[in-house]
Amino acid sequence: MVLMGVSAGKRILLIIGGGIAAYKSLELIRRLRQKGHFVRAVMAEAAQRFITKLSAGSLTGETVYDDLFALTDEAAMGHIELSRDADLVVVAPATADMLAKMAHGLADDLASTLLLATDKKILAAPAMNVRMWLHPATARNAGILRRDGIAFIGPEDGAMACGEFGPGRMSEPEAILAAIEEMLASDTKIPLPAALSGQAANALAGRRVIVTSGPTHEPLDPVRYIGNRSSGKQGHAIAAAAAAAGAEVVLISGPVALADPKGVTAIHVNTALEMLREVEAALPADIFIGAAAVADWRPAEISTAKLKKDTGNGIPLPLAKNPDILATVGRRPKGRPALVAGFAAETEKLLENAQGKLAAKNCDLIVANEVGAESDVLGGDKNKVHILTGQGRESWPLMVKEEVARRLIAKLAGMLN
Ligand code: CTP
Repeated sequence: MVLMGVSAGKRILLIIGGGIAAYKSLELIRRLRQKGHFVRAVMAEAAQRFITKLSAGSLTGETVYDDLFALTDEAAMGHIELSRDADLVVVAPATADMLAKMAHGLADDLASTLLLATDKKILAAPAMNVRMWLHPATARNAGILRRDGIAFIGPEDGAMACGEFGPGRMSEPEAILAAIEEMLASDTKIPLPAALSGQAANALAGRRVIVTSGPTHEPLDPVRYIGNRSSGKQGHAIAAAAAAAGAEVVLISGPVALADPKGVTAIHVNTALEMLREVEAALPADIFIGAAAVADWRPAEISTAKLKKDTGNGIPLPLAKNPDILATVGRRPKGRPALVAGFAAETEKLLENAQGKLAAKNCDLIVANEVGAESDVLGGDKNKVHILTGQGRESWPLMVKEEVARRLIAKLAGMLN
């Protein structure tokens, strides 16, 4: 019989640490399921010495995850999603080692990575030998975690599996369940740090930002053009994030199938020459972000009449080089925006080429991403990028383009202020 609690049907991510108390986690799963909750279990490697994935899996009715690599088979669920696709994260048993990793932000296995990546509240049910719990190092770590907002239940006093007596026993499943229900009754989402949240709200207040986005189409004749597969999703997301951060935003976009983001002034163009003209007209600005996939070349001449196919086996197609909009803005002797940021889309030597573009185009920041057959950056919803600045390089995990946009805007706001 499934008994529905006040907060029935919630999603619990249960991280099972490597301790003898792991057997009690099986009972916890059973009780959570009885209350109508959905449980996904992740087992630390050492937990598998005490209980099996099979037993946890038969109780949750779900795949049990146990290391980062298994996730590569689960195209739909990467570790970030796994950590977020829950209403609450419960660590039971939380071993001394796990608490130490959590307190210091280590992420060297799936369990610790999820605990670092999650945006949901965490309840920890410690279980360890009494001396380990009372050790100043563990006390210090538990203190750090409490200050970080991690909730604790237990440990309880009692006789321990190792024969000693004192605090260290994991709380009983019944008590953990009660603590879970109590937490589920209020908001379990951890607010984003101000710099990344909508409260980045004021991070760019009073600033003007120009963003280019989408491809350019370079006409050959009245019906044909040279173009590329850029969807404009990343550039548009950046414009939206800048507006959400309080900036006055001008978005200059090539032809895309996207709506204009709310709160930005959108200017639509077709060609690189038009895009450059509009960028120059929109200056001055505090920040320029060149996210457009500008065609490097355009047909040297545009035929006023449609080119006919009966002109032999082929036609010569002389091309003229387009101006580099990003470099033109980056190298402006006067009226250069305080920050100029661009993208480097590369199929090979990603970081080397991106570093070259940072210098050659006189940029303050380059977002480098891999494009090509293996990647769905062009047109896809996710992006995996490296951020290069004069100060060094950061590599960001794969994330949706909106999240890349928010982080990029937070980063630029930080650099500007
Ligand atoms: N860019 C630009 N104007 C151009 C070409 C590129 O403003 N004519 C900008 C893009 O918006 C992007 C950056 O320059 O921010 C890098 O674009 P990318 O296509 O990676 O490189 P290219 O400079 O075109 O060089 P290459 O194609 O040789 O890699």
